[in-house]
Amino acid sequence: MERVLITAALPYINGVPHLGHIAGSHLPADIFARYCRLCNKKTLFVGGTDEHGTPIEITARNANIELERFKKVMREVHRKIYEWFEISYDIFGNTSSKVHAEFVQEFFLKLKEKGYIKEGTMSVFYCENCRLFLPGRYVEGTCHYCGYEHANADQCENCGKAMTTDTLLNPKCKICGSKPTIKETKHLFFELSKVEEELKQYLESKKEVFRKHVVNYALSWVEEGLRDRCITRDIKNGIAVPGYEGKVFYVWFDALQGYISFVREYKGKKAEEIFWVKNKNIYHFLGKDNIPFHAVFWPAMLIVHGKYSLPYNVVGLNYLLFKEEKFSKSRGIGIFCDRIMEANI
Ligand code: 2FM
Ligand code: ZN
Repeated sequence: MERVLITAALPYINGVPHLGHIAGSHLPADIFARYCRLCNKKTLFVGGTDEHGTPIEITARNANIELERFKKVMREVHRKIYEWFEISYDIFGNTSSKVHAEFVQEFFLKLKEKGYIKEGTMSVFYCENCRLFLPGRYVEGTCHYCGYEHANADQCENCGKAMTTDTLLNPKCKICGSKPTIKETKHLFFELSKVEEELKQYLESKKEVFRKHVVNYALSWVEEGLRDRCITRDIKNGIAVPGYEGKVFYVWFDALQGYISFVREYKGKKAEEIFWVKNKNIYHFLGKDNIPFHAVFWPAMLIVHGKYSLPYNVVGLNYLLFKEEKFSKSRGIGIFCDRIMEANI
C-alpha cells in the first residue's frame, strides 16, 4: 500500500491563530490528507505547535504567567481551534516535549560528526535592562543606508538592506526603550555553503513538482550563494545544545525536525522508518514566508544527516488577505479563530 506523509507548518503559540493560518496551511494540508485517505493510501497527517524562541518567552512574561504554564494553556487553545475546524490531524505534537529535544540533540550530533558544524562569533544586541539578547525584530533604529528611522535589526523595511549591529544606528530596545549594548558571542553555524551543489541538484529536479514560485524562490537563494547559518541562541526558551552550556538551538533548527520527532513520539520508531526512511511521498504545506526554511534549510539538513527522505513536495501557499491587507493581530486586521468559535457560525 502506498504511503503518504503530510505536514502543516507548526504555528508559534504566542498568539491565537487567525483565518489566514487556517487557509494558508492547515486547511489545504487537511484537504490533501482526506483525498489521500480516500485513495486508500496509508496517510499520516502531522501537525503541532512551535514553542521555542524569544517572542514566546516575552509574551508569557508580559502576561505574568510562568513560561511552562503559558505553553500549556496556549497549546490547548491551538488544539481546540484545529479540532473545531475538523482538521484531521493523525498526530498533534509540540516542540517542548522530551522526545523532541532528544531527537534534535541527536540530529545535531550527526551533523557535527559529519563535519558540517563550525564555531564562529556573532555580534548581537543585548538589553541590560531586560537582561535579554534581543532578536532582530526587538530592536529598532536608523538605517545607515537610507536614513529610515524605524528599521529593525534584521532588515530595513524601507530599502530592504540587511541590518547588522554596525549598520543600525541609534538602536533602541523595543521592549523597554533603552539603548542596547553590543556583545560579541560565540555561536555554532551550520555550513550550508558546503551543501550548495547537492541542494541545487535537488531543486533542479523539482522544477516540475514544486509550484513555480516556490522552486524559483529557492533556486534564487542558492544561486546567490548560501551563507553558513547560525543555529544557536543565548536565550532560555529552547533546546540545550550538547556540549555548549547555556546555549540553545535556534527555533527553526529545532521546529522543522518536529515533522520527524512527532512521528517517533506518537507512532514509534517503526513508523518513523516507514514514513521517513522508506517513503518518498513527503508533502509539506506552509505559508509563503516559510519557503526558504522548508525548501532550502530543511532539505540541506536532511541531505547532510543522510538517513531520511527529502520532501517530495514543498507546497508554499499564498496569504489569505482581509480587505486586501495581510492579517495582523497588532493592527487588529483579520478574523481570529477564537472569535469564530465563540460566534458558533
Ligand atoms: O511561521 C511560523 O509560524 C513557524 N512557527 C512555522 C514553523 S514550521 C516548522 F518548522 F515547524
Ligand atoms: Zn529592554
